[in-house]
Order: sequence, then structure tokens, then C-alpha cells
Amino acid sequence: MSVTVIVGAQWGDEGKGKITHFLAPSYDLVLRFQGGSNAGHTVITGSSTFKFNLVPSGILCEKCTCLLGDGMVINPSKLIEEINGLKERGVWYENLRIGSRAHLVLPYHTLIDELEEKRLGLKAIGTTKRGIGPAYADKYSRLGIQVGDLMNPNYLKDRLSTIVELKNKLISCLYGSDTLINADELYSELLKQAEFLAPYVTDTVSFVRSAIDAGKKVLCEGAQGVLLDIDYGTYPYVTSSHSITGGALLGTGVAPHEVINVIGVSKAYTTRVGSGSFPTELDDEVGEIMRQRGLEYGTATGRPRRCGWLDLVLLRYAVRIAGCTSLALTKIDVLDGLEEIKVCTAYKSNGKKVDWASIANVELSNYEPVYEIFRGWKASISNAQSIRELPNELIQFVNFISAQVGIPVRLLSIGKDTSQTLVTES
Ligand code: IMP
Repeated sequence: MSVTVIVGAQWGDEGKGKITHFLAPSYDLVLRFQGGSNAGHTVITGSSTFKFNLVPSGILCEKCTCLLGDGMVINPSKLIEEINGLKERGVWYENLRIGSRAHLVLPYHTLIDELEEKRLGLKAIGTTKRGIGPAYADKYSRLGIQVGDLMNPNYLKDRLSTIVELKNKLISCLYGSDTLINADELYSELLKQAEFLAPYVTDTVSFVRSAIDAGKKVLCEGAQGVLLDIDYGTYPYVTSSHSITGGALLGTGVAPHEVINVIGVSKAYTTRVGSGSFPTELDDEVGEIMRQRGLEYGTATGRPRRCGWLDLVLLRYAVRIAGCTSLALTKIDVLDGLEEIKVCTAYKSNGKKVDWASIANVELSNYEPVYEIFRGWKASISNAQSIRELPNELIQFVNFISAQVGIPVRLLSIGKDTSQTLVTES
């Protein structure tokens, strides 16, 4: 009985893909549990770079079976594209499974996502326009189509005709668009996709339960981050799924008592894509250094990410909500050579210091960060082979973070490559 959950402890893009790939060899199963192709998980090994949107980042580990869990929303054409990409690069992908209860992201979802963002104008969420919100909305309105439905053509045809009729009314009457969906064409396309995907479709619950009963080790790979969680994030500027630890249970059939480790992944600074308040955001040269050195451009969309100092008020909140037992601190090397490094330890509101804030979006925008300032380190850290080779200034910075959030920092990522990951002593 050994399940580890990896969650993003910020607003996504923390490096969960790299950490998942690094840890995968110690596990038998790697499961994605929520989100869809809004995620962009990068894995770099030597001269090869892989970007995964739907496929779990454990896929490069041949001994691992990788499952797209039932809590996900899956765009079948994107998934086929991703599988074909793996095939072309000679990656072993027969160990892939797709949960039959996961919901499909269909062309009307991406279209409506785009139309709705346009309608909102300046108030837009800044979504990835991958159809994620509309697909989850359909799931909860009981208008969704599940992966398993692809295997049942008559039912699929009937469902599609009812749903597409409604979507076309929405597209034309509410949004005034003439890009209508042809239900027959979509049906034919889905039948072809069904044939491709059929060998991988699996009943998630029985698959995961039998693996756990057989003593297999399970790693759950979260997407996005705690601050983007639909319930506990900075609503309404959030994604539409449960990106906290609870999402791993909902999306895979893992039971609560089976989770023994929760690794929160956090950058040594903060980034955010899309709208919403960001107390430690930097609109200066240091923010630009972070963006350029950290290659802070969305993996899924290419959008520049907003950058700022590490915010421990938010990190403490994320660690608490997700029940993290340790942290993986990533992209520390991006801070190499900075004279000083700031860390937000509390907020000020109306002249009064508060160290615990509700993270409701409206309230966050009223807070002014209070910073602790650290001396930076001069040397480049990316070639360090052990913790002992790291500069004292960095160790102090990491120890401070650990003391402030109340859990150990177990993994330090000091470069893009998987090999540039250091493990602290337990
Ligand atoms: P959606 O998930 O496409 O609906 O987007 C909702 C919000 O979540 C937007 O602010 C996106 O930028 C953000 N978001 C979604 N996925 C990711 C991700 O993988 N990394 C960072 N931000 C994300």
C-alpha cells in the first residue's frame, strides 16, 4: 500500500513533469488524475525534450504503466497526436491505459471556450482555450460523453445528436457564431478515433484496485496547481478541476488511507499564466530575468508567464490544503547570480500585518507583500552533484522555506535536465 501524490503547490508550471519522470523508476503505475491538454509537462533527458499534455510523464519509464484517470477530460484527437508523436520517436507506449469514465473534450468544447473568453473581453479568465471548462461543465450537467461511450456506437450517435443540437443553439443564438458542429461528421470522426484508442481503454477502478492489492507502487501526477483548484484556488481565475490531493482520489479510485506521501512542487519563485491577482508579481528587470532564464512561456499555449518572488503565504496555504508531506523546490538555478532574493513571508492590509490570508481573488489583490531579503549566490549551481556542493546562501534560503512551511524540502531541481535533481537526506 504505497501511493504518492504529486501536486503543484502554486499556479501550475512548477515542474511536476520533471519530478514525476525523476521518481517514476521507483513506481509501477503513474496516473494522471485531472485536467486535460491544458497541462504541458516537460521532461528533458540528455538531448531529448518531451512535452506531454495528456500522457503521464512516467511514460518514458518502460517498467511503469501509465493511466489517464477517470477525473481527466481528454481530447481524443490531441491524445492520438501525442501517442503518434511517441511512436515516431520510438518511445514504448504500449503501457498506456485510458480510463473509460474520463470525459471527452470535443470540438464544441474548444469552440465554446474560445467564444466565451471573447465574450468576457477584459474580464476573460485567460484560459488555455483547450475546452477544459466547457467539458467539465458538461460532465456536471450530465451532458458529457465518456471515453467508454466511444465503444458503443449506437449510444454515441444518439447522445451526440441530442447534445450537438443544444450546442449549436448555444453557438448561434448566444454567441452569434455560424461555426456550427455537424453531428454526423463528428460521429464518423469519433468512430475512427475509437478504433485507434480501443486497445488502451480500461476500467480505472478495477485496474488501480488490483494493482494496489498486488502491492504495486502508485505515483499520481497532478496537473495545474492548488491555487488553480476549482474549489480552493483563486476563484474565478482557476481551472475547472480538482488539482488538490483530493482530486487524485476522485480521479483514480485510490482510497484516502493509501496515500502516504504528498509531494508539493514549487518553484523557487512564482509564476502565473492568465488573469487574477498576484501579490508578488514583478514588472521589472528581475521579473524579466526570471522569464528569460526560466523560459517562462506556456508549454501548452506559448503565452509569456507572469513572474514574481516566492510567496510563502500562498505556499503555506497550498501545503496545508493539499496535505503535503514534503516539497520539491524547482528552478532554483534561475536565481543564480542575483544580488538579493526576496521571499514574501506575510501580507500587509490597511497597514496591518497578516500572515494568513484567505486566497479569495478579490482579497488577494488588496494585500501588499512583506519580504524577507536573502543574499544571493554568485556561482552557477547547475553542475552540483550533491547538496554539499551548493552555496551556503542557497542552503539558508532552502532551510528558511522549509521552516516557514513546516515540511522538509526533499528534492532540489537545479537545471532543466532530469539528472540535475538533488535529493536531501531524510
Ligand atoms: P483552463 O484550465 O484552460 O480553463 O484555464 C483556466 C486557468 O488556469 C487559466 O488562468 C490558465 O492559464 C490556467 N491554467 C490551466 N492549465 C494550466 C497549466 O497547466 N499551467 C498553468 N496555468 C494553467
